[in-house]
Amino acid sequence: MPEPAVTAFGPGRVNLIGEHTDYNEGLAMPFAIERGVTVKSSPARRWVVDALDLGQRDEFDTPDRVKGWRAFHRGMIAELGIEGPRHLEITGDLPRGSGLSSSAALEAALAVALLQGETGDLKALAKVCSKVENEWVGAETGLLDQIASLLSREGQVLRIDFRSLEVEPHPLELGDWQLVTLDSGAKHNIAASGYNQRRAECRAACEALGIDSLREAGDLSALDGTLLRRARHVVSENARVDATAAALDAHDLPAVAELLDASHASLRDDYEASVPEVEATVERLKAAGAAGARMVGGGFGGSVLALLGPGVAPPDGALVVTPGAPARLL
Ligand code: GLA
Repeated sequence: MPEPAVTAFGPGRVNLIGEHTDYNEGLAMPFAIERGVTVKSSPARRWVVDALDLGQRDEFDTPDRVKGWRAFHRGMIAELGIEGPRHLEITGDLPRGSGLSSSAALEAALAVALLQGETGDLKALAKVCSKVENEWVGAETGLLDQIASLLSREGQVLRIDFRSLEVEPHPLELGDWQLVTLDSGAKHNIAASGYNQRRAECRAACEALGIDSLREAGDLSALDGTLLRRARHVVSENARVDATAAALDAHDLPAVAELLDASHASLRDDYEASVPEVEATVERLKAAGAAGARMVGGGFGGSVLALLGPGVAPPDGALVVTPGAPARLL
């Protein structure tokens, strides 16, 4: 019996706070959004994959390694041990390269479609998606995006501890406030190299401190210069995640806004992951009345997240984001 046709959806994500902490065994607080990637899977005589938005097709009998968009589905098919063959049709409404994690959305949608919704342990599945991104696509990223896309809860943010992989949903009650993202439009080709360089610097800081991960860092006085700034960002960002959880519990949204600003300042000054277009986007949001704003995702371009108080209208081009449901069959 051929497996029935199914359609799966994988959401993109926004990270409320906790940036560049996932690969440092730290804390983050993302949520999945309503936009994402849809994958339709139906029985076929050989593997055929149509990227409808790109107008491109991939046809194969065995999922060998290739570069580009084809690496995602080939990697997921191989790593999940799917026999197939199937016809997959991919579409999405998430701008690619805007820092809202279209890659994890695609991986999650592929996983749910290929497994016919029988996803099993979602953290294990997030690791498979991340392995595909690292080893097949060649992007050295952490687990933040995949956990957000696969484990999100409607109306909640996830406090993720990347040391224990404990995921704790937390209500996001915004009342009359809104969270919006605005694309900076910058797609820098230094994004991947800048990200990898930051990871290497964090490893170097750990070596200098004689620890395994920056989560264990306490006294940073053995560091100076660049490594001190990188470690200081990670340590202070972890503290801001817990401060944000406390502010959300206390319904203190002005305090959340201040924490977003502090996160951005740290990413800009200590982590040096901002670029002029991102700074201009933060300025635009502030001029429009945002209470707090910060870059989201890996940096060096992408989107800015802002918290708008009651009565503040989102500027043109901004996307209102709310925590949506996780990856699923439609
Ligand atoms: C990208 C990566 C994530 C995470 C963020 C920074 O989105 O894919 O794993 O490291 O950058 O927080």
